[in-house]
Amino acid sequence: MPYAHITGWGMAVPNRILTNAELESMVATNDEWIVARTGIRERRIVRAGETSSTLAVEAAWKALGCANLKPNELDLIICSTSTPEHIFPATACLVQDKLGANKAGAFDLLAACTGFIYALNMGAQAIRSGSIKSVLVIGTETLSRFVNWQDRNTCILFGDGAGAFVLQANQEFGGILASVLHSDGSGGDLLSVPAGGSKHPASEATIRSGMHFIHMDGREVFRFATRVMAQATREVIGAAGLQIQDIRWIIPHQANLRIIEAAARGLKVPLEKFIINIERYGNTSTASIPIAICEAVADGRLKAGDKIVLTAFGAGLTWGALAAQWSGPLPVVRKLRPAFYRILARLRSLMRRLRLRLEGWIWGRDKA
Ligand code: UT7
Repeated sequence: MPYAHITGWGMAVPNRILTNAELESMVATNDEWIVARTGIRERRIVRAGETSSTLAVEAAWKALGCANLKPNELDLIICSTSTPEHIFPATACLVQDKLGANKAGAFDLLAACTGFIYALNMGAQAIRSGSIKSVLVIGTETLSRFVNWQDRNTCILFGDGAGAFVLQANQEFGGILASVLHSDGSGGDLLSVPAGGSKHPASEATIRSGMHFIHMDGREVFRFATRVMAQATREVIGAAGLQIQDIRWIIPHQANLRIIEAAARGLKVPLEKFIINIERYGNTSTASIPIAICEAVADGRLKAGDKIVLTAFGAGLTWGALAAQWSGPLPVVRKLRPAFYRILARLRSLMRRLRLRLEGWIWGRDKA
Protein backbone atom coordinates (compact mmCIF):
# COMPACT_ATOMS: atom_id res chain seq x y z
CA MET A 1 0.00 0.00 0.00
CA PRO A 2 1.62 3.32 -1.01
CA TYR A 3 2.10 6.14 1.49
CA ALA A 4 0.93 9.68 0.71
CA HIS A 5 4.00 11.92 1.00
CA ILE A 6 3.83 15.71 1.13
CA THR A 7 6.23 16.58 -1.70
CA GLY A 8 5.29 20.19 -2.42
CA TRP A 9 3.97 23.18 -0.51
CA GLY A 10 3.25 26.82 -1.15
CA MET A 11 1.40 29.76 0.37
CA ALA A 12 -0.09 33.02 -0.84
CA VAL A 13 -1.30 36.02 1.13
CA PRO A 14 -2.49 39.40 -0.12
CA ASN A 15 -0.02 42.29 0.11
CA ARG A 16 -2.48 44.57 1.89
CA ILE A 17 -1.83 44.54 5.65
CA LEU A 18 -4.61 45.64 8.00
CA THR A 19 -3.20 46.55 11.42
CA ASN A 20 -4.92 46.75 14.78
CA ALA A 21 -4.31 50.50 14.72
CA GLU A 22 -6.38 50.79 11.54
CA LEU A 23 -9.18 48.75 13.12
CA GLU A 24 -9.26 51.26 15.97
CA SER A 25 -10.58 53.81 13.48
CA MET A 26 -13.27 51.43 12.23
CA VAL A 27 -14.82 49.93 15.42
CA ALA A 28 -14.68 50.46 19.19
CA THR A 29 -11.57 48.40 19.83
CA ASN A 30 -7.90 48.91 20.58
CA ASP A 31 -4.58 47.24 19.89
CA GLU A 32 -4.05 46.34 23.55
CA TRP A 33 -7.37 44.45 23.79
CA ILE A 34 -6.85 42.59 20.50
CA VAL A 35 -3.29 41.52 21.33
CA ALA A 36 -4.14 40.48 24.90
CA ARG A 37 -7.32 38.55 23.97
CA THR A 38 -6.25 37.03 20.65
CA GLY A 39 -2.50 37.48 20.01
CA ILE A 40 -3.26 39.12 16.63
CA ARG A 41 -1.36 42.25 15.56
CA GLU A 42 -2.20 42.38 11.85
CA ARG A 43 -3.90 40.40 9.09
CA ARG A 44 -3.86 40.34 5.28
CA ILE A 45 -6.89 41.49 3.30
CA VAL A 46 -7.63 40.97 -0.40
CA ARG A 47 -7.97 43.90 -2.77
CA ALA A 48 -10.41 44.13 -5.69
CA GLY A 49 -9.60 41.41 -8.22
CA GLU A 50 -8.09 39.06 -5.63
CA THR A 51 -10.31 36.08 -4.86
CA SER A 52 -10.23 32.65 -3.23
CA SER A 53 -9.17 31.10 -6.54
CA THR A 54 -6.41 33.64 -7.33
CA LEU A 55 -4.83 33.05 -3.91
CA ALA A 56 -5.29 29.28 -4.33
CA VAL A 57 -3.66 29.29 -7.76
CA GLU A 58 -0.67 31.32 -6.53
CA ALA A 59 -0.12 28.87 -3.66
CA ALA A 60 -0.67 25.90 -6.01
CA TRP A 61 1.99 27.03 -8.51
CA LYS A 62 4.50 27.24 -5.66
CA ALA A 63 3.54 23.77 -4.42
CA LEU A 64 3.78 22.27 -7.91
CA GLY A 65 7.15 23.97 -8.47
CA CYS A 66 8.39 22.57 -5.16
CA ALA A 67 7.20 19.04 -6.06
CA ASN A 68 8.44 19.35 -9.66
CA LEU A 69 5.07 18.15 -10.82
CA LYS A 70 3.41 19.32 -14.05
CA PRO A 71 -0.25 20.37 -13.66
CA ASN A 72 -1.33 17.65 -16.11
CA GLU A 73 0.26 15.02 -13.85
CA LEU A 74 -2.29 15.79 -11.12
CA ASP A 75 -5.07 13.21 -10.60
CA LEU A 76 -7.19 15.21 -8.18
CA ILE A 77 -7.63 18.73 -6.78
CA ILE A 78 -9.38 19.17 -3.43
CA CYS A 79 -10.08 22.74 -2.47
CA SER A 80 -11.04 23.31 1.13
CA THR A 81 -12.82 26.64 1.58
CA SER A 82 -15.69 28.30 3.45
CA THR A 83 -15.48 31.32 1.16
CA PRO A 84 -15.81 29.83 -2.33
CA GLU A 85 -16.11 32.18 -5.26
CA HIS A 86 -19.64 30.94 -5.99
CA ILE A 87 -22.14 28.47 -4.58
CA PHE A 88 -21.24 26.65 -7.79
CA PRO A 89 -19.12 26.02 -9.81
CA ALA A 90 -16.61 24.73 -7.29
CA THR A 91 -13.56 26.92 -6.68
CA ALA A 92 -11.50 23.74 -7.25
CA CYS A 93 -12.71 23.71 -10.88
CA LEU A 94 -11.66 27.35 -11.36
CA VAL A 95 -8.23 26.39 -10.00
CA GLN A 96 -8.12 23.31 -12.26
CA ASP A 97 -8.72 25.52 -15.31
CA LYS A 98 -6.21 28.19 -14.27
CA LEU A 99 -3.54 25.53 -13.69
CA GLY A 100 -4.35 23.60 -16.88
CA ALA A 101 -4.61 20.42 -14.81
CA ASN A 102 -6.52 18.71 -17.59
CA LYS A 103 -6.43 15.18 -16.21
CA ALA A 104 -7.54 16.04 -12.67
CA GLY A 105 -10.91 15.65 -10.98
CA ALA A 106 -11.74 18.65 -8.80
CA PHE A 107 -14.12 19.37 -5.95
CA ASP A 108 -14.59 21.71 -2.99
CA LEU A 109 -14.76 20.52 0.59
CA LEU A 110 -16.33 22.50 3.41
CA ALA A 111 -15.29 21.70 6.97
CA ALA A 112 -14.54 25.33 7.90
CA CYS A 113 -11.29 25.82 9.84
CA THR A 114 -10.80 22.03 10.10
CA GLY A 115 -11.08 21.77 6.32
CA PHE A 116 -7.40 21.39 5.49
CA ILE A 117 -7.16 18.37 7.80
CA TYR A 118 -10.29 16.84 6.25
CA ALA A 119 -8.94 17.51 2.73
CA LEU A 120 -5.50 16.07 3.49
CA ASN A 121 -7.16 12.99 4.93
CA MET A 122 -9.34 12.53 1.80
CA GLY A 123 -6.38 13.03 -0.55
CA ALA A 124 -4.15 10.67 1.41
CA GLN A 125 -6.86 7.97 1.56
CA ALA A 126 -7.28 8.14 -2.22
CA ILE A 127 -3.53 7.63 -2.66
CA ARG A 128 -3.38 4.88 -0.02
CA SER A 129 -6.16 3.01 -1.88
CA GLY A 130 -3.86 2.83 -4.90
CA SER A 131 -6.42 4.40 -7.24
CA ILE A 132 -4.50 7.64 -7.85
CA LYS A 133 -0.92 8.89 -7.54
CA SER A 134 -1.02 12.63 -6.95
CA VAL A 135 -3.36 15.12 -5.30
CA LEU A 136 -3.27 18.86 -4.91
CA VAL A 137 -4.81 19.86 -1.56
CA ILE A 138 -5.60 23.55 -1.14
CA GLY A 139 -6.93 25.61 1.75
CA THR A 140 -8.03 29.06 0.62
CA GLU A 141 -10.08 31.84 2.20
CA THR A 142 -11.20 35.40 1.58
CA LEU A 143 -13.02 35.85 4.88
CA SER A 144 -12.71 39.62 4.68
CA ARG A 145 -15.51 39.52 2.06
CA PHE A 146 -17.91 38.01 4.65
CA VAL A 147 -16.91 40.04 7.70
CA ASN A 148 -19.14 42.77 9.06
CA TRP A 149 -16.62 45.57 9.53
CA GLN A 150 -18.88 47.10 12.15
CA ASP A 151 -18.93 43.98 14.35
CA ARG A 152 -15.94 44.15 16.69
CA ASN A 153 -16.59 40.59 17.90
CA THR A 154 -15.56 39.18 14.53
CA CYS A 155 -13.84 41.78 12.34
CA ILE A 156 -10.67 41.83 14.41
CA LEU A 157 -10.14 38.09 14.05
CA PHE A 158 -10.12 37.10 10.43
CA GLY A 159 -7.64 37.40 7.55
CA ASP A 160 -7.25 36.13 3.99
CA GLY A 161 -4.76 33.65 2.54
CA ALA A 162 -4.13 30.27 0.96
CA GLY A 163 -1.86 27.27 1.34
CA ALA A 164 -1.39 24.26 -0.93
CA PHE A 165 0.23 20.84 -0.58
CA VAL A 166 1.06 18.26 -3.24
CA LEU A 167 0.57 14.67 -2.05
CA GLN A 168 2.30 11.91 -4.01
CA ALA A 169 2.30 8.13 -3.74
CA ASN A 170 5.54 6.64 -2.46
CA GLN A 171 6.30 3.11 -1.27
CA GLU A 172 8.62 4.37 1.49
CA PHE A 173 7.20 4.86 5.00
CA GLY A 174 6.25 8.50 5.66
CA GLY A 175 3.82 11.26 4.78
CA ILE A 176 0.32 11.16 6.25
CA LEU A 177 0.32 8.58 9.07
CA ALA A 178 -3.09 8.90 10.74
CA SER A 179 -6.01 11.27 11.13
CA VAL A 180 -9.11 11.69 13.24
CA LEU A 181 -12.14 13.67 12.06
CA HIS A 182 -15.09 14.75 14.22
CA SER A 183 -18.25 16.82 13.93
CA ASP A 184 -21.20 17.99 16.01
CA GLY A 185 -23.86 19.75 13.95
CA SER A 186 -25.84 20.67 17.05
CA GLY A 187 -23.40 23.59 17.44
CA GLY A 188 -23.89 24.79 13.87
CA ASP A 189 -25.45 28.11 14.90
CA LEU A 190 -22.43 29.11 17.02
CA LEU A 191 -20.50 30.16 13.92
CA SER A 192 -22.23 30.68 10.60
CA VAL A 193 -23.05 32.80 7.57
CA PRO A 194 -26.84 32.43 7.83
CA ALA A 195 -27.92 33.73 4.39
CA GLY A 196 -26.98 33.17 0.79
CA GLY A 197 -27.73 29.44 0.80
CA SER A 198 -30.96 27.62 -0.05
CA LYS A 199 -32.59 28.25 3.36
CA HIS A 200 -32.25 32.02 3.17
CA PRO A 201 -31.43 32.95 -0.44
CA ALA A 202 -29.96 36.42 -0.81
CA SER A 203 -32.69 39.05 -0.68
CA GLU A 204 -33.09 42.66 0.31
CA ALA A 205 -34.26 41.48 3.77
CA THR A 206 -31.25 39.18 4.35
CA ILE A 207 -28.90 41.96 3.39
CA ARG A 208 -30.71 44.54 5.52
CA SER A 209 -30.44 42.25 8.55
CA GLY A 210 -26.77 41.44 7.90
CA MET A 211 -27.42 37.71 7.54
CA HIS A 212 -24.80 37.42 4.78
CA PHE A 213 -22.04 38.24 7.30
CA ILE A 214 -20.17 35.92 9.69
CA HIS A 215 -22.11 35.49 12.96
CA MET A 216 -20.31 34.04 15.95
CA ASP A 217 -20.83 33.26 19.60
CA GLY A 218 -17.17 33.82 20.46
CA ARG A 219 -17.29 32.63 24.08
CA GLU A 220 -18.99 29.32 23.22
CA VAL A 221 -16.63 28.65 20.31
CA PHE A 222 -13.71 29.44 22.63
CA ARG A 223 -14.96 26.95 25.23
CA PHE A 224 -15.46 24.25 22.61
CA ALA A 225 -12.03 24.88 21.07
CA THR A 226 -10.13 24.61 24.35
CA ARG A 227 -11.83 21.26 25.00
CA VAL A 228 -11.27 19.57 21.63
CA MET A 229 -7.85 20.67 20.42
CA ALA A 230 -5.76 18.78 23.00
CA GLN A 231 -8.21 15.86 22.89
CA ALA A 232 -7.91 15.39 19.09
CA THR A 233 -4.12 15.76 19.25
CA ARG A 234 -3.87 13.00 21.87
CA GLU A 235 -6.21 10.81 19.88
CA VAL A 236 -4.28 11.06 16.61
CA ILE A 237 -0.93 10.46 18.27
CA GLY A 238 -2.38 7.22 19.65
CA ALA A 239 -3.87 6.29 16.26
CA ALA A 240 -0.42 6.71 14.66
CA GLY A 241 1.14 4.46 17.33
CA LEU A 242 3.28 7.33 18.64
CA GLN A 243 3.89 9.10 21.94
CA ILE A 244 3.72 12.86 22.48
CA GLN A 245 7.53 12.93 22.90
CA ASP A 246 7.91 11.56 19.32
CA ILE A 247 6.24 14.70 17.97
CA ARG A 248 8.64 17.47 16.94
CA TRP A 249 6.04 20.11 16.08
CA ILE A 250 2.34 20.67 16.66
CA ILE A 251 0.80 22.96 14.06
CA PRO A 252 -2.53 24.24 15.40
CA HIS A 253 -5.26 26.15 13.62
CA GLN A 254 -4.39 29.78 14.31
CA ALA A 255 -7.62 31.14 15.80
CA ASN A 256 -6.57 32.65 19.11
CA LEU A 257 -3.23 32.50 20.96
CA ARG A 258 -5.11 31.77 24.22
CA ILE A 259 -6.72 28.68 22.64
CA ILE A 260 -3.27 27.42 21.58
CA GLU A 261 -1.93 28.08 25.08
CA ALA A 262 -4.84 26.10 26.54
CA ALA A 263 -4.04 23.20 24.19
CA ALA A 264 -0.38 23.26 25.29
CA ARG A 265 -1.49 23.17 28.94
CA GLY A 266 -3.93 20.33 28.20
CA LEU A 267 -1.19 18.30 26.54
CA LYS A 268 1.38 19.24 29.21
CA VAL A 269 3.90 20.34 26.54
CA PRO A 270 5.72 23.68 26.27
CA LEU A 271 4.28 26.32 23.97
CA GLU A 272 7.60 26.18 22.06
CA LYS A 273 6.45 22.88 20.56
CA PHE A 274 3.74 24.79 18.65
CA ILE A 275 4.24 26.66 15.40
CA ILE A 276 2.49 29.99 15.81
CA ASN A 277 2.17 32.91 13.40
CA ILE A 278 -1.26 34.26 14.36
CA GLU A 279 0.22 37.67 15.21
CA ARG A 280 0.84 38.39 11.48
CA TYR A 281 -2.11 36.75 9.71
CA GLY A 282 -5.00 36.48 12.19
CA ASN A 283 -7.41 33.60 11.65
CA THR A 284 -7.27 32.52 7.99
CA SER A 285 -9.52 29.52 8.70
CA THR A 286 -8.64 26.50 6.55
CA ALA A 287 -5.50 28.25 5.23
CA SER A 288 -3.93 28.85 8.64
CA ILE A 289 -2.25 25.44 9.04
CA PRO A 290 -0.60 25.22 5.59
CA ILE A 291 0.56 28.86 5.86
CA ALA A 292 2.16 28.15 9.26
CA ILE A 293 3.84 25.02 7.86
CA CYS A 294 5.20 26.84 4.78
CA GLU A 295 6.77 29.47 7.05
CA ALA A 296 8.26 26.82 9.36
CA VAL A 297 9.84 25.03 6.39
CA ALA A 298 11.16 28.30 4.96
CA ASP A 299 12.87 29.33 8.20
CA GLY A 300 14.35 25.86 8.76
CA ARG A 301 12.35 24.82 11.81
CA LEU A 302 10.51 21.97 10.08
CA LYS A 303 12.92 19.40 8.65
CA ALA A 304 12.72 16.12 6.73
CA GLY A 305 12.01 13.27 9.13
CA ASP A 306 10.19 15.41 11.71
CA LYS A 307 6.96 13.93 13.03
CA ILE A 308 4.22 16.53 13.25
CA VAL A 309 0.60 16.85 14.32
CA LEU A 310 -1.88 19.26 12.76
CA THR A 311 -4.91 20.06 14.91
CA ALA A 312 -7.94 22.24 14.24
CA PHE A 313 -11.54 23.10 15.13
CA GLY A 314 -14.13 25.21 13.40
CA ALA A 315 -17.65 25.89 12.26
CA GLY A 316 -19.95 22.93 11.79
CA LEU A 317 -18.91 22.25 14.45
CA THR A 318 -15.95 20.27 13.19
CA TRP A 319 -12.63 19.29 14.71
CA GLY A 320 -9.83 16.87 14.00
CA ALA A 321 -6.11 16.17 13.92
CA LEU A 322 -3.62 14.58 11.57
CA ALA A 323 -0.21 13.02 12.22
CA ALA A 324 2.46 13.06 9.51
CA GLN A 325 6.13 12.53 8.94
CA TRP A 326 7.55 15.43 6.99
CA SER A 327 9.43 14.11 3.97
CA GLY A 328 10.32 17.08 1.79
CA PRO A 329 10.40 17.01 -2.01
CA LEU A 330 11.28 13.85 -3.92
CA PRO A 331 14.72 13.81 -5.64
CA VAL A 332 14.59 16.22 -8.59
CA VAL A 333 14.47 14.46 -11.94
CA ARG A 334 13.74 17.58 -13.96
CA LYS A 335 13.18 21.16 -12.88
CA LEU A 336 9.65 22.35 -13.47
CA ARG A 337 9.21 25.86 -14.84
CA PRO A 338 5.87 27.10 -13.44
CA ALA A 339 5.92 30.25 -15.63
CA PHE A 340 5.88 28.11 -18.80
CA TYR A 341 2.95 25.99 -17.58
CA ARG A 342 1.09 29.09 -16.44
CA ILE A 343 1.14 30.50 -20.00
CA LEU A 344 0.26 27.09 -21.44
CA ALA A 345 -2.72 26.81 -19.06
CA ARG A 346 -4.02 30.24 -20.10
CA LEU A 347 -3.78 29.38 -23.80
CA ARG A 348 -5.49 26.01 -23.29
CA SER A 349 -8.28 27.58 -21.25
CA LEU A 350 -8.83 30.18 -23.97
CA MET A 351 -8.93 27.46 -26.65
CA ARG A 352 -11.46 25.42 -24.64
CA ARG A 353 -13.71 28.46 -24.16
CA LEU A 354 -13.52 29.27 -27.89
CA ARG A 355 -14.33 25.66 -28.79
CA LEU A 356 -17.38 25.63 -26.48
CA ARG A 357 -18.67 28.90 -27.99
CA LEU A 358 -18.03 27.66 -31.53
CA GLU A 359 -19.79 24.34 -30.88
CA GLY A 360 -22.76 26.25 -29.41
CA TRP A 361 -22.90 28.52 -32.43
CA ILE A 362 -22.73 25.60 -34.92
CA TRP A 363 -25.39 23.67 -32.97
CA GLY A 364 -27.67 26.76 -32.93
CA ARG A 365 -27.17 27.36 -36.66
CA ASP A 366 -27.90 23.68 -37.54
CA LYS A 367 -31.09 23.77 -35.43
CA ALA A 368 -32.23 26.94 -37.18
O1 UT7 B 1 -11.78 29.47 13.67
C1 UT7 B 1 -12.76 29.50 14.64
C2 UT7 B 1 -13.26 30.90 14.71
N1 UT7 B 1 -13.58 31.48 15.93
C3 UT7 B 1 -12.85 31.47 17.07
O2 UT7 B 1 -11.89 30.82 17.24
C4 UT7 B 1 -13.34 32.38 18.14
C5 UT7 B 1 -13.12 31.86 19.52
N2 UT7 B 1 -13.39 32.90 20.48
C6 UT7 B 1 -12.49 33.86 20.76
O3 UT7 B 1 -11.40 33.87 20.24
C7 UT7 B 1 -12.85 34.88 21.81
O4 UT7 B 1 -14.06 34.51 22.42
C8 UT7 B 1 -12.95 36.33 21.24
C9 UT7 B 1 -11.58 36.83 20.85
C10 UT7 B 1 -13.89 36.38 20.06
C11 UT7 B 1 -13.49 37.24 22.33
O5 UT7 B 1 -12.65 37.19 23.47
P1 UT7 B 1 -13.25 36.94 24.92
O6 UT7 B 1 -12.16 37.02 25.87
O7 UT7 B 1 -14.06 35.68 24.86
O8 UT7 B 1 -14.17 38.21 25.08
P2 UT7 B 1 -15.71 38.27 25.42
O9 UT7 B 1 -16.53 37.91 24.23
O10 UT7 B 1 -15.96 37.50 26.69
O11 UT7 B 1 -15.89 39.81 25.71
C12 UT7 B 1 -15.26 40.45 26.82
C13 UT7 B 1 -15.51 41.93 26.72
C14 UT7 B 1 -16.97 42.27 26.43
O12 UT7 B 1 -17.29 43.44 27.12
P3 UT7 B 1 -18.12 43.37 28.49
O13 UT7 B 1 -19.41 42.68 28.15
O14 UT7 B 1 -17.26 42.58 29.43
O15 UT7 B 1 -18.27 44.81 28.84
C15 UT7 B 1 -16.98 42.55 24.96
O16 UT7 B 1 -18.01 43.42 24.58
O17 UT7 B 1 -14.75 42.48 25.63
C16 UT7 B 1 -15.62 43.20 24.75
N3 UT7 B 1 -15.13 43.07 23.40
C17 UT7 B 1 -14.21 43.90 22.87
N4 UT7 B 1 -13.57 44.97 23.38
C18 UT7 B 1 -12.68 45.58 22.59
C19 UT7 B 1 -15.46 42.13 22.47
N5 UT7 B 1 -14.77 42.36 21.35
C20 UT7 B 1 -14.00 43.45 21.56
C21 UT7 B 1 -13.07 44.14 20.78
N6 UT7 B 1 -12.43 45.20 21.33
N7 UT7 B 1 -12.79 43.79 19.51
